[in-house]
Amino acid sequence: MGKMTAPCFRERKQDGDRLAVLTAYDYPCAKLIDESGVDAILVGDSCAMAVMGRKDTLSMTMEEMLHHVRMVSAAVEHALVIADMPFMSYQISTEEAVRNAGRLVAEGGAEAVKLEGPVSIFGDAIASILDVGIPVMGHLGLTPQSVHQLGGYKVQGRSPEHRERILDDARGLDEIGCFGLVLECVPADLAKEVTARVGCATIGIGAGLGCDGQVLVMHDILGWGFTKFTKTYVDVKGAMEKAFKDYVHDVKSGAFPAEEHAFK
Ligand code: KIV
Repeated sequence: MGKMTAPCFRERKQDGDRLAVLTAYDYPCAKLIDESGVDAILVGDSCAMAVMGRKDTLSMTMEEMLHHVRMVSAAVEHALVIADMPFMSYQISTEEAVRNAGRLVAEGGAEAVKLEGPVSIFGDAIASILDVGIPVMGHLGLTPQSVHQLGGYKVQGRSPEHRERILDDARGLDEIGCFGLVLECVPADLAKEVTARVGCATIGIGAGLGCDGQVLVMHDILGWGFTKFTKTYVDVKGAMEKAFKDYVHDVKSGAFPAEEHAFK
């Protein structure tokens, strides 16, 4: 396995090779995911919900994100490590956006950053991050950092006007130089149309098969998934529940430790 880089995303798209992306938030999982042959690992701010027990992604801080990015980048040899820019780490000013993107790379070991929203709002921030040599991935459709404005976690781009806006925004992110673009919770035919119109690689989540690749939250494929668009590959959650209950039962019944677990 060679090393995956941000420019490879556009090349893969041109070659018609699908891209597989998963989230990870810690060393042991990132190591296993990297060894699976995945193309990129996203240290998503979904960490706030999947790992930290928070109700949304909004409260994740730069320090918390850096903590997880460091663990993941310590484990990864092949995949591209992409770090999510937390809420309010790029919205206030271009200067703060560049400083925080730089911290994710310099202190965290990330190789690219992802931020949510269009060029009409974040164009200066994206261009300035690119100017200092950091690859940027865009994110359109359901952008969880805007959950309150969107009125919940809902499918986006259903009306003709909203469809047009997503198509325009995707073109904007492509033209400014994003290497990839997450399309979250948009109708499959819209994701397919966006994919056909941009040169950067589209990575879908709840956006159908017409994207150049897919991303899922690690916990969602391991049995913690609640959404319709995910798939449980192994019920790790169920296996953990059983292991914890069996252990408690064995301790209480005296079945553990057995002779072989003790020193003579
Ligand atoms: O935070 C995250 O994990 C994400 C993916 C769902 C795309 O942004």
